[in-house]
Amino acid sequence: MADIKIPANLLPKDGRFGCGPSRTRPEQLANFLSEGASLIGTSHRQAAVKNMVGDIRSGLLELFRAPEGYEVILGNGGSTAFWDAAAFSLVENKAQALVHGEFGSKFAKALKTPWLEAPTIRSSEPGTLNHLVPEAGVDAYVYPQNETSTGVIAPVQRVEGVDEGALFMTDATSAAGGVDFDLSQTDVYYFAPQKNFASDGGLWVAVVSPAAIERIERISSSGRYIPEFLSLKVALDNSRLNQTLNTPAIATLFMLLDQIRWINKSGGLSWADARTKESSKLLYDWAHHSKIAFPFVENRDHQSQVVVTIDFEDSMDATLITKALRANGILDVEPYRKLGKNQIRVATFVATDPSEVSALITCLDYVIDALS
Ligand SMILES: Cc1ncc(COP(=O)(O)O)c(C=O)c1O
Repeated sequence: MADIKIPANLLPKDGRFGCGPSRTRPEQLANFLSEGASLIGTSHRQAAVKNMVGDIRSGLLELFRAPEGYEVILGNGGSTAFWDAAAFSLVENKAQALVHGEFGSKFAKALKTPWLEAPTIRSSEPGTLNHLVPEAGVDAYVYPQNETSTGVIAPVQRVEGVDEGALFMTDATSAAGGVDFDLSQTDVYYFAPQKNFASDGGLWVAVVSPAAIERIERISSSGRYIPEFLSLKVALDNSRLNQTLNTPAIATLFMLLDQIRWINKSGGLSWADARTKESSKLLYDWAHHSKIAFPFVENRDHQSQVVVTIDFEDSMDATLITKALRANGILDVEPYRKLGKNQIRVATFVATDPSEVSALITCLDYVIDALS
């Protein structure tokens, strides 16, 4: 295959379309250089960094229009660490987990512990969505809001008829900040900031309801062995002081706060939701009209507005498309590595202007034309 050179005037301004770590806004980095750099190398136990953590916590409550009593807690280790923390600190006896892709499956695996009953798994094929059902004896219902490996979005909604006091936990790692929802419909809304929040990895953040806080405190005093690093009671106590148990990445906190402020200033979560819907619709419409491409997720209600997966007919090898795009600086639209589909996957997180997605589509057409 001869090298495909996309004309420079067709290229997006920024070639980053990956699902995380993902595109940052140039203003975030500029603000970091002008205001944030002086925080680097200073103590996270002193006012400057603690105020930043405090602003993140209050900024998120504003963004998510948090009901009375919800709190923001945070710690190190990303969403993967939060799964283990939740197994130690939030699930009392047994969970039910929705699994339709890699990330739902990873949390379900973390729930198989010696101190919990085996979780009930409600699974379905990648690209589809199952639903949680009320089950006696289950005290925690868990699901990914956006399954990043497949581009399937699930509603944030409590299930009627569950045991009294059962908690709902939403893995919002790739949805938070880009998808509107009603926080009262869940007890634990957790994420890491390297996606819609356009920051870096390594941190987890959770917005927790009064019922979740009560559960964290009760399990903490129950005598269950909980490693300090994975104790949400320790995280709760530190977060209330605007600190983390151990040293956080200060640049990550700065970039996260900058993005929260930008979204809040731009119109909040409903604005972000409209923007990601506009971007993703461009791609779904393009696939709909294409003769060789089609959305991987068939049910329109389950098609994610933040992670768009598009399959290609066998006649078009998607790896040739992604290679040609990569050679032209358009990065990370390869499908999720373990899914094994003839596919591209594009993040339409809120940092990406819809005009950038239009430019990407122009480049896709150019490359496909050259390969056909
Ligand atoms: C839905 C979802 N959950 C969890 C994770 C894991 O996040 P982390 O890499 O911060 O541990 C990811 C990462 O892509 C994700 O997309």
